[in-house]
Amino acid sequence: MKYFVLSAILAAAPVALAQQPVWAQCGGIGWSGGTTCVSGATCSKQNDYYSQCIPGAAPPASSSSSTASVPSGPTTTVGTPTSTSSSTTTGPTSAAGNPYADGYTLWLTPFYASEVTAAAAAITDSATKAKALKVAQIPTFTWFDVIAKVDTLKTYLAAAAAAGGKQLVQIVVYDLPDRDCAAAASNGEFTYANNGAANYKSYIDGIAAAIKAFPTVRVVAVYEPDSLANLVTNMNVAKCSNAASAYKASAIYALQTLNLPNVFLYLDAGHAGWLGWPANLQPAATLFGQIFASAGKPAAVRGLATNVANYNALSAPSADTKITQGNPNYDELHYINALAPMLTSAGFPAHFIVDQGRSGVQGIRDQWGDWCNVKGAGFGTRPTTSTGSSLIDAIVWVKPGGECDGTSNTSAARYDFHCGLSDAFQPAPEAGTWFQAYFEQLVRNASPSL
Ligand SMILES: *[C@@H]1O[C@H](CO)[C@@H](O)[C@H](O)[C@H]1NC(C)=O
Repeated sequence: MKYFVLSAILAAAPVALAQQPVWAQCGGIGWSGGTTCVSGATCSKQNDYYSQCIPGAAPPASSSSSTASVPSGPTTTVGTPTSTSSSTTTGPTSAAGNPYADGYTLWLTPFYASEVTAAAAAITDSATKAKALKVAQIPTFTWFDVIAKVDTLKTYLAAAAAAGGKQLVQIVVYDLPDRDCAAAASNGEFTYANNGAANYKSYIDGIAAAIKAFPTVRVVAVYEPDSLANLVTNMNVAKCSNAASAYKASAIYALQTLNLPNVFLYLDAGHAGWLGWPANLQPAATLFGQIFASAGKPAAVRGLATNVANYNALSAPSADTKITQGNPNYDELHYINALAPMLTSAGFPAHFIVDQGRSGVQGIRDQWGDWCNVKGAGFGTRPTTSTGSSLIDAIVWVKPGGECDGTSNTSAARYDFHCGLSDAFQPAPEAGTWFQAYFEQLVRNASPSL
């Protein structure tokens, strides 16, 4: 999908520049900024594409105990706390069990905030700069797309715990072996053929251990974007059908292991233009129901996440007929309303979160399946619990807007043709790296405006 890892290790260019602040990027393929950190922080490699200034003199210890020196990141409150004065709730949001509805503060990922702050500093137009800086105050999810990042999770959770109060940290669990099995390129660091099942268990165990160490911090996790959806629609692809039983076993292990009192899991369910096609709804509901039952119906499973890193509206005034081609479920709300009763019948909890981070502008795609750096996109509805639907717990920003979906360089090893289409913003750098021009577009086109 979005964050891939090359097997080749390339050395970051040793350019001497200003020292990077805590949490800022300090290296990685395609990075041309500073590679040393301010005093008190160490440049720690997260993956081939990111090194980051982590507080402390050494890389994070494998022990998750000490938290005293971890600085608090900025935080922001989202949504309207539900009324505590009455046991009857009649509002549009179903509060029972909704992790977003009881007054928690969404932890603002310090890494994304530092990316955005650096990006704003590079903008000369003062009005655009001011708008860009506001994005640093909007919470997004943090993607744990390689096992090496799990130590960073401990650091973030420690910082959130140290901030005190009711803190909610949003993460994406994204390291399934043979992940993104329908894509042209091989993505991700693990394969089932090469010890992937055991490696994935280690990855999940690491996340669970980190979360257990900070029981006061609430964790909302999106589970494995695209992977289970691929089992619904792409079983004709050999890599998907071959991986199907292993995917399910890995998912069941993850749901059981992450079944902790402070965890709320939303399994990724693609989007309206994927599982939202009428023929795909029942097979999707059946699959989610089966996996949930096989895992023993873990209480931590809250529901499904839709539109992750995609561009669909939650509620469009009308169908974008150029791309939706007769699908009655032409936006996320139609999709969710159609899927929910089938989920309930399948014994799966019908609660949802919906990514609207880059959904501010509609009518910009040539095909519904176009996902790469879509030209004309803008930041969308801010994270909120005012969703207008009792099925939807919260509108969230899962994809950190400004991080690239994929390179447009046709010679690059990870080139995907979607990133070279005429509706894709070009030139684009490697997936996961900062894409300044695209970020500025998202800022300018934000709807509602920033
Ligand atoms: C495109 O990728 C190739 C292969 O990695 C590389 O040699 C070339 O410099 C890249 N071009 C640009 C413009 O980045």
